[in-house]
Amino acid sequence: MNEFELLIDLHRYNQRQGPGGVGETEKAIGLTGLENEENLNMADIGCGSGGQTLTLAKKLDGHITAVDLFPEFLEELKVRSGKEGLDHRISTLTASMDDLPFGEEEFDLIWSEGAIYLMGFEKGITKWIQHLKPGGILAVSDISWITDKRPDALEKFWAEECPEIDTVDAKLKVLETQGYAPLGHFILPEDCWIENYYRPLQESHDTFLERQGHSNEARELVKLDTHEYEMYLQYKEHYSYGFYVAKKL
Ligand SMILES: C[S@@+](CC[C@H](N)C(=O)[O-])C[C@H]1O[C@@H](n2cnc3c(N)ncnc32)[C@H](O)[C@@H]1O
Repeated sequence: MNEFELLIDLHRYNQRQGPGGVGETEKAIGLTGLENEENLNMADIGCGSGGQTLTLAKKLDGHITAVDLFPEFLEELKVRSGKEGLDHRISTLTASMDDLPFGEEEFDLIWSEGAIYLMGFEKGITKWIQHLKPGGILAVSDISWITDKRPDALEKFWAEECPEIDTVDAKLKVLETQGYAPLGHFILPEDCWIENYYRPLQESHDTFLERQGHSNEARELVKLDTHEYEMYLQYKEHYSYGFYVAKKL
């Protein structure tokens, strides 16, 4: 298995592939002001197995195009949406977030939880704005500093993992300079990281290693994953995901 196949096998059976939570998705939906609108056209980019997609489908009226680079996650999403009777509301699309096959001004809402860092926050919001209708809403969560000063070891770790990590104010400024009016933002609490993401992932390590015959590559991935969790436990007062909701001007 190559690196991507291993990552998919590690993550695909979990409810979420990144930090987040149902309550936080609902809170961000509240900030969009779209709850009483009908027949919305929505996209969920980097949806994974659809943790947040299902919440969107339950809370907002209309259709969601759920996009991910890896069809394996979309297969999981199809199973989950079928079980909840939401499959007629969600279509899946295998595509890359930096080359979306969408037209101009198609969507009322573009959603993306924990994924925009893969192409970069500024590049992502700048490219995606063309697909929003005038006045359309963007809701993204992205890794953010929540303190002014950080230990060097932590800065170094995130500079390698995600060079665009920045303060909440800096993220809001980027939104403003790229044609959005911020409507609201908040920081994901600890349980979104530990209860909803890291702990289930840690608990899945044994079965993952068994499926992978305890290969060196699989053991290395488990080690990296555990290191990231330990970094979070040690330094969690310094960073989290910021959830940013903004309107296209
Ligand atoms: C950290 S996970 C977040 C998944 C989900 N939104 C959640 O919060 O549970 C990032 C997701 O982005 C997807 N992804 C990675 N590169 C991508 C790309 N270039 N285009 C679209 N999706 C991508 C991954 O497959 C993964 O599902």
